[in-house]
Amino acid sequence: MKYSVLKETVLLSMNLKLLGKWDSCRDDSMKRLKENLDRMFVAVVDDQAVGHSYWSLLEDKPCIYSIFVMNEARRMGIASALMDKCESQILASGYNQAGLSTMVTNPAQYAFLRMGYEKTETTDGWSYFTKLLGK
Ligand SMILES: CC(C)(COP(=O)(O)OP(=O)(O)OC[C@H]1O[C@@H](n2cnc3c(N)ncnc32)[C@H](O)[C@@H]1OP(=O)(O)O)[C@@H](O)C(=O)NCCC(=O)NCCS
Repeated sequence: MKYSVLKETVLLSMNLKLLGKWDSCRDDSMKRLKENLDRMFVAVVDDQAVGHSYWSLLEDKPCIYSIFVMNEARRMGIASALMDKCESQILASGYNQAGLSTMVTNPAQYAFLRMGYEKTETTDGWSYFTKLLGK
């Protein structure tokens, strides 16, 4: 997988309203992506990258930082497979819980509930979820 292709799918996953914010911290964001390449999974269909997920530690707690599937490849189980990969790696790294957050308006929350995540808190327009792993 070429890094430029990966970067393209990651950029595609950005909320357009937040793109200006991404631009203003591009160097930091790219640094974080590069640091987490070994915690990142890319779904490839017919040689095309159609989605990605990656996790990292936030205050020593594993968090799914990004999960994205391109429009034309949605509702085929790809995000579920990408999340499984992250969760297996988190478990293998010695952690038994994963967390994530999403804006309260984002329909992705229904996918997370379906994948076994439980909503723990909603604050300032964001919902926070956790899942116990290895059960
Ligand atoms: C959320 C997202 C990653 C889901 O990807 P996906 O590959 O379509 O997900 P899956 O096919 O694995 O879905 C598994 C289940 O989750 C639920 N689900 C998925 N997307 C859903 C949606 N938009 N609304 C309601 N339920 C949904 C369904 O129950 C689905 O099973 P089903 O298709 O058999 O009914 C994708 O819609 C996406 O990339 N969204 C934009 C990026 C984003 O918002 N990411 C999260 C930021 S925190």
